Amino acid sequence: MSYKISVEKVQHSSASQIDFNNIPFGKNFSDHMFVADYYDGDWHDCRIIPFGDFSLHPATSAIHYGQAIFEGMKAEQDAEGNPIIFRPLKNWNRLNISAQRMAMPTIPQDLFMNALDKLISLDKDFIPDTDLSSLYIRPFMFATEKFVGIRVAEHYRFCIFSSPVGAYYTKPVRVFVSEKYVRAAPGGVGFAKAAGNYGAAMMPTHEVQKLGYDQLLWLDGIHHKYFQEIGTMNVFFVIDGVLVTPGLDSGTILDGVTRDSIIRLAEDEGYIVQERDVSVDEVINAYHEGKLQDTFGAGTAAVLSHIGAFHYKGEDYELPAVEEREISNKLKKRLMDIKSGKGEDVFDWMHTVPVGVYAGQ
Ligand code: COI
Repeated sequence: MSYKISVEKVQHSSASQIDFNNIPFGKNFSDHMFVADYYDGDWHDCRIIPFGDFSLHPATSAIHYGQAIFEGMKAEQDAEGNPIIFRPLKNWNRLNISAQRMAMPTIPQDLFMNALDKLISLDKDFIPDTDLSSLYIRPFMFATEKFVGIRVAEHYRFCIFSSPVGAYYTKPVRVFVSEKYVRAAPGGVGFAKAAGNYGAAMMPTHEVQKLGYDQLLWLDGIHHKYFQEIGTMNVFFVIDGVLVTPGLDSGTILDGVTRDSIIRLAEDEGYIVQERDVSVDEVINAYHEGKLQDTFGAGTAAVLSHIGAFHYKGEDYELPAVEEREISNKLKKRLMDIKSGKGEDVFDWMHTVPVGVYAGQ
């Protein structure tokens, strides 16, 4: 089935009001947004409209029972000025995996991609062309049925908006290994990009931020021994030349698109990559033996962000200067070059938005 998307354009674009040389993360928004509503078992009223507020009934079920999921993607401009989006089908697929776990409807691929193409084509002037900046794209879905009671909602809204952004982290990130709180447990929703995963992390994260750390590095929910992820990013370690990252089998870790890309690029560069359990003891022993060469995070917003230090049981473990981190610097450059259209797209990751074919442009 093909979904017709109507378009209502803004009278005046706000693009000229944005200082593209100095963009904070997540505070500026493009002119338009895509909205579709789900009822009677299908998506209806697919529309691109001026970016703006929703009006919500107080009993809107997502607010009470948390059926809410989201995604994050990035677009840049290639040398000809065409918008290019990094691996959008991976995000479409993960959105639907999250939707299934949260008993929400899935989004057909053609609806997702047509909405994305049309929206980004219309708002292409919001794509920064400055280094380290990009257009962050936020697809999300939430239950909109108005009722009081615990059951699967029958009405949902799917929306996509975009936001020109600069770097999420501007310096190496200091993380605190949590012994007290857990993010996810086997059988739970850790693998889903569910809003509640982020909500549940707010208080523990705020606690360590007050101690001077940027983020929590979560341990597994059973043994409190194996690394999981950093809340805003997946985590990688370089131990004695080998790239190690927690595996996805437990279902407690987000299947990051950047994580997957880093693994594939590292293998392509000839590095040994291991997706497996990695314990705090292993990493601390490697640290003391001088074999922990690097620790970094990977995520859409954060791209590849170096970890400056991690804290565990009262001790700060300071990591090497960023300039010395050969493997991650090489992988970061290759990833950023592909995303900006400068590097060879060996894996066919980039989607070029067909500009000008929509909405009478
Ligand atoms: C992303 O990386 O896209 C996220 O959703 C995490 C958040 C830090 C914005």
